[in-house]
Amino acid sequence: MNYRHGFHAGNHADCLKHALLVGLLGALRRKDTPFAVADLHAGRGTYDLAGDQAMRTGEWKGGIGRLLADTPEPLAEYVTLVQRLGLYPGSPAIIRALLREGDRLVANEKHAEEHAALAAWAAGDARITVRQGDAYVLKGLVPPAGFKRGLVLFDPPYEAEDEAAKLVAALIAAHRAAPTLVLAAWYPVKHLAPVRALRDAVREARLPKLLDAALYLRPPLDPTRLNGSGLLIVNAPYRFGEVAKPILAALAARLADVADGAVHLDAAA
Ligand SMILES: C[S@@+](CC[C@H](N)C(=O)[O-])C[C@H]1O[C@@H](n2cnc3c(N)ncnc32)[C@H](O)[C@@H]1O
Repeated sequence: MNYRHGFHAGNHADCLKHALLVGLLGALRRKDTPFAVADLHAGRGTYDLAGDQAMRTGEWKGGIGRLLADTPEPLAEYVTLVQRLGLYPGSPAIIRALLREGDRLVANEKHAEEHAALAAWAAGDARITVRQGDAYVLKGLVPPAGFKRGLVLFDPPYEAEDEAAKLVAALIAAHRAAPTLVLAAWYPVKHLAPVRALRDAVREARLPKLLDAALYLRPPLDPTRLNGSGLLIVNAPYRFGEVAKPILAALAARLADVADGAVHLDAAA
């Protein structure tokens, strides 16, 4: 548990995950029936990009920094939200900004300090429940009590060797526990072998309405670098590929190394 998201907040991976998250929440908001979101690896809520951690890596400059300077239309809703919230919004802050009165967020975080910050951030908002526990112990988290519509977000730090295997098992268990919910899981792209293995394992699990949306900043050849990342979506909303495609293209145009970037959008179930 060494990972601290503050060093990476607003980087290209956050931009991919959060821009698609805004799109997924938009799909849920299309119907009046309330929905719930379980954010299983929530982090602390918001991040100060002028703070020590963010300034030490400067990763946000190659991510949200570029999008704030020049915002392409498909990313306008996401970037406007970032501007409106001031501090860089983590996933729970993005979700909270798009909750309606009857919608709910359950935000879970394992790390004690991050959890304390998250609880302080959420205090006073009756729509949000904050939990501290292991995301993979889904009991009580998935499905969020009383909801058949909604989203479960998996955003693990991939510190452990077996993280991808645990993630696939958790996706299968979450789908079994809540077959109608949208599941979204972020994954890193360093080199291709582990990405292929993850994609194959998810396909073999025969999870329904699978959409895999990834952004490569450069060819994924150097395993020591985060060369891109992706979001695996189960029970993808109707025609979500059409929402994801321009978002990916806009991210590639702004964030990829010149001419070397690529996107991967695979709707094969
Ligand atoms: C990539 S960060 C989350 C960022 C956040 N989702 C966002 O988009 O703003 C991953 C978080 O998961 C937490 N974490 C690591 N292992 C966990 C586990 N087994 N259960 C719950 N949280 C965990 C870490 O402390 C870290 O805050």
